[in-house]
Amino acid sequence: MSDSNPIDALTALEAEALAAIEAAEDGDTLERVRVTYLGRSDGRISAILRGLGQLDPAMRPKVGQRANQVKSVVSTALEERSAALAGPAAAGGLDLSLPSRPRWKGGLHPITQAVDEIWHIFRDLGFSRARGPEADTEWYNFEALNTPLDHPAADEQDTLYLVDSVLLRSHTSPVQMRTMEQYDPPIRIIAPGWVYRRDTYDATHTPAFMQIEGLVVDEGVSFVDFKATLAEFARRYWGPDTQVRFRPSFFPFTEPSAEVDVKRVITRPDGSRHETDWLEIMGAGMVDPNVIANAGYDPERYTGWAFGMGPARIAMMKHGVDDLRTFFENDVRFLEQFS
Ligand code: DAH
Repeated sequence: MSDSNPIDALTALEAEALAAIEAAEDGDTLERVRVTYLGRSDGRISAILRGLGQLDPAMRPKVGQRANQVKSVVSTALEERSAALAGPAAAGGLDLSLPSRPRWKGGLHPITQAVDEIWHIFRDLGFSRARGPEADTEWYNFEALNTPLDHPAADEQDTLYLVDSVLLRSHTSPVQMRTMEQYDPPIRIIAPGWVYRRDTYDATHTPAFMQIEGLVVDEGVSFVDFKATLAEFARRYWGPDTQVRFRPSFFPFTEPSAEVDVKRVITRPDGSRHETDWLEIMGAGMVDPNVIANAGYDPERYTGWAFGMGPARIAMMKHGVDDLRTFFENDVRFLEQFS
């Protein structure tokens, strides 16, 4: 299109003026744009209108009509831009440039997320989910689990008693016995839940916390099943390069007992990899034959293995959180990072 055709020249001028109006960020700039295009003496559109007389008479009406149209489009755009720059008051109290409020979006608590991820891995390995009461008896919490009441764990110093022999369970292990009482082998369960202890609230302790219990009982269940299943869990949770170590330990309800540690491989943002220290993830062991017998199963026929782990610890490791209390204070700015 050449400027020699006055209609095309007007269309180009219109586009140029509208772009300049849009780009104007303040009233002064906008006023300069107005003068450039619509100024009485030197305005470019005004000049065209004034020059109509010199045009071929046959062209005059068309060019005149188009020039007036462009003038009106540009004037309207100038008014609108001016109103927008003047702010909310000029826009009838509405500030359309205000960013909208973000939609409030709920999310699962990071510890719940850890519980779900752990549970889903065991579900894929053939486990089902079990539960038991949070208020339980000394029998289920201690004695059935081969823990005599004079054991330090049963001390009122550590356990929250409600009345007489009823207490708030201090671990999820009582779900082992409650499940075995209800079902015949084979047993393959995961039991997440709240447990309670007389602990002071600090960076690594809370008087109420989550545990995840696991229990397998069947004929011919061996230490190999125990190690292989937990190693498989660790590799699925932390990645295939994860190393697993079983350290000898003691729990009254398992023999032998172990503490399970993992060493993870972390890939840094720059692609380099490094190994973490050994980190303890759970207590575990082969179910003590006394526990099998307390459940009413034949300990000569059935063997099993069990574990108890703390998903809060695992969530701390995963997210690099160093104070357990941040999970309980429920500061939305903290929680939002996990949704
Ligand atoms: N109940 C133990 C605790 O709270 C954890 C535990 C250890 C659970 C060994 C188990 C196990 O099932 O076999 O510290």
